Amino acid sequence: MVKLVGISGSLRNGSFNTSLLKAATDHLPDGVTLEIGTISGIPLYDGDLEAAEGIPDAVTTLKRQIAGADGVILFTPEYNNSIPGTFKNAIDWVSRRHPDIPDVFKGRPFAVVGASPGNYGTLLSQNAWLTVLHTLGAQAWSGKRLMVGNAAKVFDAQGRIIDEAVASRLTDFLAGFAAFAAAKG
Ligand code: FNR
Repeated sequence: MVKLVGISGSLRNGSFNTSLLKAATDHLPDGVTLEIGTISGIPLYDGDLEAAEGIPDAVTTLKRQIAGADGVILFTPEYNNSIPGTFKNAIDWVSRRHPDIPDVFKGRPFAVVGASPGNYGTLLSQNAWLTVLHTLGAQAWSGKRLMVGNAAKVFDAQGRIIDEAVASRLTDFLAGFAAFAAAKG
């Protein structure tokens, strides 16, 4: 069994990225699971808060999910042509602290996908994540890309994918990444 974890970088109820993550659970190859991780409940990073109270529970939960996964998929929105601060903040927290960071990120397969109402489907946000993943020592998978543009036409009001071409690309992406994660595990 290959165990993947997916994290949406959006907090809003109608999020296209959360919809894509939920849809991904229905497009998995046999023998692959996709657990949903969340950035909800993670406070703004504050070194004083960390010193006084340690790592917040929501961060510890996410950290454990990542550390227990064969691969992690980041479902990232794009804000101002880069990573939304909310999502980066969550991963910054998860990157605290040494000495357990190598257990969480080092050599772990990561993939980045994303959806946006614009034409480029989070291309620049996905690219921006590569620097972060490189810094953390994760293995960013580059076998395929999944940029879901014009997202308002891809999902229905319930967040289900209504664009068959996107559904097919999602299936291919998940199969490719799961195979990569399995080979590394
Ligand atoms: C955006 N949006 C956006 N979209 C994009 O494709 N490129 C961009 O640079 C930006 N910039 C941007 C900045 C800010 C502050 C906001 C709030 C939004 C639009 C964004 O893609 C859209 O709100 C998505 O719906 C966000 O993802 P979720 O919440 O649907 O997952």
